[in-house]
Amino acid sequence: MSTPLLRIQQLRAGYGRAEVLHGIDLHADKGSVITVIGPNGAGKSTLLNSMMGLLPSKGLVEYEGEDIGTLTLEERVMRGIALVPEKRELFGTMPVEDNLVLGGYRQMRLGNAQWRSRLDDVYALFPRLKERRTQLAGTLSGGERQMLAVGRSLMSGPQVLMLDEPSLGLAPLIVKEIFSIITTLRQTGVTIVLVEQNARAALAVADHGYVLEMGELSLQGPAAELAQDARVIDTYLGATRKPD
Ligand SMILES: Nc1ncnc2c1ncn2[C@@H]1O[C@H](COP(=O)(O)OP(=O)(O)OP(=O)(O)O)[C@@H](O)[C@H]1O
Ligand SMILES: [Mg+2]
Repeated sequence: MSTPLLRIQQLRAGYGRAEVLHGIDLHADKGSVITVIGPNGAGKSTLLNSMMGLLPSKGLVEYEGEDIGTLTLEERVMRGIALVPEKRELFGTMPVEDNLVLGGYRQMRLGNAQWRSRLDDVYALFPRLKERRTQLAGTLSGGERQMLAVGRSLMSGPQVLMLDEPSLGLAPLIVKEIFSIITTLRQTGVTIVLVEQNARAALAVADHGYVLEMGELSLQGPAAELAQDARVIDTYLGATRKPD
C-alpha cells in the first residue's frame, strides 16, 4: 500500500487544560476526499486547526511521509496544505480580487508569476467571482463569500484542501454548487478533507468517512457504507434535508 498523503495518529489537542481531541487516527490518500462528520462541539474545527498548525497538538501529523508537527502555519501552506476556516476571515473592505491576490501573496513575494495563472484558474472555477472581481468582499452573498474563501485558499496551489463546513448557512442550491466544485477540485488531483454537518451531502461526495463524537472517532469506513449504517442514518441523516 502506498503512503497516505496525510496521516495523523493519536492526535490530541485542546484549549489550555481542556483536552478536546482524545487521540485521533485518520488518513487521506492522495486524490481522495475524506469527510469528518459529527455534532456541534465534537471537535471538528479543532481537528482541522490542529492539522493546519493553528493550535498546539500532541501526536503525529504526517504529510508526504514526513512529520510536519513542528512546522508553522506558513510552512504548512508552503508545503501545499490549505484551510478554508469556519469563520471565512475575508477582508470585507477589500475587493474580491484583492482578497484572492492576498491568498497567493507568498508566491507573489517569491516572484512567482504562477499566481496570475492561479487567479485565472480560480475565475474559471468560480465565474461569479470574476464577474464580481471589483465588488467589496463584505457585500457578497453568503454563497459568494464561501466561493471567495475557497478561491482564496486555492491561490496557494494546495495539494490538500481542508474545508470547515463549507455548506454552513447556505441555501440548498448553493450547497449543491459548492459540493459540485468539491468534485471538480478532486478531479484536478487535490486531496480534500471535508468537515461537515450536512452528513448526507458529505458522504455522497467522499470516499471515506469518519464520525467524530466528543473528541473521539466513533465510526469510520467507506463513505457509501457509512451512509447505510443504521446509527449514522438515525443520528446524522434523519434530519438532514437532501440537497435538491
Ligand atoms: N478557542 C477556544 N477556547 C476554548 N474552548 C474552545 C475553543 N474553541 C473551541 N472550544 C471548545 O472545544 C470543543 C470543540 O469545538 P470545535 O469548534 O472544534 O467543535 P466543532 O465540532 O467544530 O463544532 P461545530 O460543528 O459547532 O463547528 C467545544 O466544546 C468548544 O466549546
Ligand atoms: Mg466547527
